[in-house]
Amino acid sequence: NYYAILMAGGVGSRFWPVSTVDFPKQFHDMLGTGETLIQKTFSRLSKIVPEENILILTNERYNQLVIEQLPQVKQEQIILEPVMRNTAPCTVLASLKIQQKNPDALVVVAPSDHWIEDEDQFIANLQKSFDNCSQNNVLMTLGILPTFPNTGYGYIEYNKLDNNPIKKVVQFREKPDYATAKAFIQSRNFLWNAGIFIWSIRSIIEAFETFHPEMLRLFQKGMDFYNTPREQEFINTIYPDAENISIDYAILEKAKNVFVLPATFDWNDLGTWGALHEKLPKDDQFNAVVNATMILENASNNIIRTEGKKLVVINGLSDFIVVDKNDTLLIFPKDKEQEIKKISNLLDKK
Ligand code: GDD
Ligand code: MG
Repeated sequence: NYYAILMAGGVGSRFWPVSTVDFPKQFHDMLGTGETLIQKTFSRLSKIVPEENILILTNERYNQLVIEQLPQVKQEQIILEPVMRNTAPCTVLASLKIQQKNPDALVVVAPSDHWIEDEDQFIANLQKSFDNCSQNNVLMTLGILPTFPNTGYGYIEYNKLDNNPIKKVVQFREKPDYATAKAFIQSRNFLWNAGIFIWSIRSIIEAFETFHPEMLRLFQKGMDFYNTPREQEFINTIYPDAENISIDYAILEKAKNVFVLPATFDWNDLGTWGALHEKLPKDDQFNAVVNATMILENASNNIIRTEGKKLVVINGLSDFIVVDKNDTLLIFPKDKEQEIKKISNLLDKK
């Protein structure tokens, strides 16, 4: 009964120049483990969801990357979007396909580009959530203990007096501004949304029926085509008409039956070079180096990455991102890392 919707259509633009529109971060081995992030995510999920029940939702331009990196996946498990419409439309589409095969299915919706160390705890948390969703009409999220007012995350409020292991969500707020995020953290009854959702097919379709019936109708037009050879043609025709909105804004902020399980695994969304710096091994001056051979002096707290082996000499530089990739060299202060997204967007338009 377990299915997974693996979302792999994002661009990861804050990881430019390594992550690009043609080759986004989920298809890179960002941590130097020998596996790309999507490969790691797939193998993690397959410990609880049968491999053939994992659907991969991505943009059509990444089809080849998925095939190369996940050769065990059949083409019918890969769903290709002709245009980017964020995560709500692809969730509806995948849910209807699954509903057609198994209306009693329980589903985990997961991003493809995160770091999770303790896979056993991850699986245990998923199991608990699946169990809850098989009994109740609920939308489950996994919550992470927040450490600073990150404005790139969703925030989940729960009742401090709620002693249940799975807590009713009082409020879900996607990407608040800095002042709001700061107030949330200070009030101590907020968790970060890990972006991993668990629900039954029935519950999520009911939620779309309530909050986005027009989106549900659009994709329901394809019921005769899903899981047939004409599916992709149908998707290509209607996908541009889908509203561009994330599942967080579309459903989680609105639904009244959202519950959160505080996660018992370490989590990092590897959203920026700084987040990656946290996860990489570092020297005694907190420099993290990927691939390069370094001669460092008066240098601390930098992240330095070259494409292959390369000798890099740095003297008198701290708190910087240095990334060398083919014809591009990025030297950028770590505290401005959110602005890297703008550069990558600017170049993409050229
Ligand atoms: N198929 C598909 N199509 N996948 C997409 C698309 C799309 O158009 N857009 C994004 N994705 C994929 C990304 O590749 C990623 O794996 C996942 O969906 C989440 O998208 P992000 O763009 O990375 O979302 P976010 O990081 O801004 O915010 C989400 O994750 C945070 C935690 O990392 C939200 O769920 C936040 O609430 C959450 O805190
Ligand atoms: Mg993300």
